[in-house]
Amino acid sequence: MVDQPPDTALAISDVTGALGGRVARRLASAGQNARLIMLDAGRDADLPEMEVVEASYRDPASMRRALAGVHTFFMIPVHEAPDRVRQHVRAVDAAVEAGVKRIVYSSFVGAAPDATFTFARDHWYTEEYIRSTGLDFTFLRGNVYMDVIPWIVGDDGVIRGPAGDGRFAAVARDDVADAAVSVLLGEGHSGVTYDVSGPERLTLHRVAELFSRATGRDIAYHPETIEEAYEAHSRYGAPDWEVEGWVTSLAGVAGGEMDVVSGTVGELTGHPPMGLGEFLRRYPESYRHLVRT
Ligand SMILES: NC(=O)c1ccc[n+]([C@@H]2O[C@H](COP(=O)([O-])OP(=O)(O)OC[C@H]3O[C@@H](n4cnc5c(N)ncnc54)[C@H](OP(=O)(O)O)[C@@H]3O)[C@@H](O)[C@H]2O)c1
Repeated sequence: MVDQPPDTALAISDVTGALGGRVARRLASAGQNARLIMLDAGRDADLPEMEVVEASYRDPASMRRALAGVHTFFMIPVHEAPDRVRQHVRAVDAAVEAGVKRIVYSSFVGAAPDATFTFARDHWYTEEYIRSTGLDFTFLRGNVYMDVIPWIVGDDGVIRGPAGDGRFAAVARDDVADAAVSVLLGEGHSGVTYDVSGPERLTLHRVAELFSRATGRDIAYHPETIEEAYEAHSRYGAPDWEVEGWVTSLAGVAGGEMDVVSGTVGELTGHPPMGLGEFLRRYPESYRHLVRT
């Protein structure tokens, strides 16, 4: 356990989000107190036993207040945005100024300055900035969240994208949250970068097969070229950086950037990570929008 007073040991950002909420609920179940950082403290975190503070990565003063007296900051990246790295730098600066001792950062597999997947570069810059502070750190480089895969299937039952026959080792947010809690409450993780993956190397053909079985519909994967993917996505009117993030995420899969299976979930949590088939059995609501009645 972290050797700090229980009311100031931990702070978690983004607790209204899917990952932060999971981590906060697990800590509450373990009887561990934590300070919950929310963009809007008016929103109900449904964890009455925990202290809630309102702060934004965009507002350093609010982050300094939120992190005052905190030993370990579980830092979750904010939504993808053109100024995302700047927001992260501000949050890290605030942590240093507030006297935080350790940052556990939820990063992304294959984080590198020259990653094909443009958003993975944000994570590398954030990691490097955290390293440069001299604070104690642990990086949890999550693979693609299984939970988001149902949303890449089109209404017509076709998954399109420039992923070729590339493989990735999708991981359930539940498993990432379990691994994070183990790091937050445990010892021996100082300076370690963990790849946090599911158990299997999936292609999108295999994903389509598993979704066909789960939904009872014929779901298929049609690989696109990079040019076709840009053409298709630019039709939705999203900003260029967002279209580039989407297209390069799948181009990164094609290039093997997310083809990383690790034993981290098992080692940190004592249970094996969920495979996609098991995830779909456990969470039928995750793909309900794909089922035709
Ligand atoms: N590995 C993957 O496949 C994968 C997939 C999706 C996302 N991600 C990354 O992982 C992060 C966390 O995932 P998630 O699923 O928990 O995301 P999520 O559910 O979208 O949660 C994002 C959280 O960030 C908060 N937030 C937004 N702007 C902020 C700011 N300026 N300062 C402080 N908090 C801010 C949001 O607050 P509000 O609710 O008030 O807006 C929300 O709580 C995402 O932001 C994304 O970078 C990874």
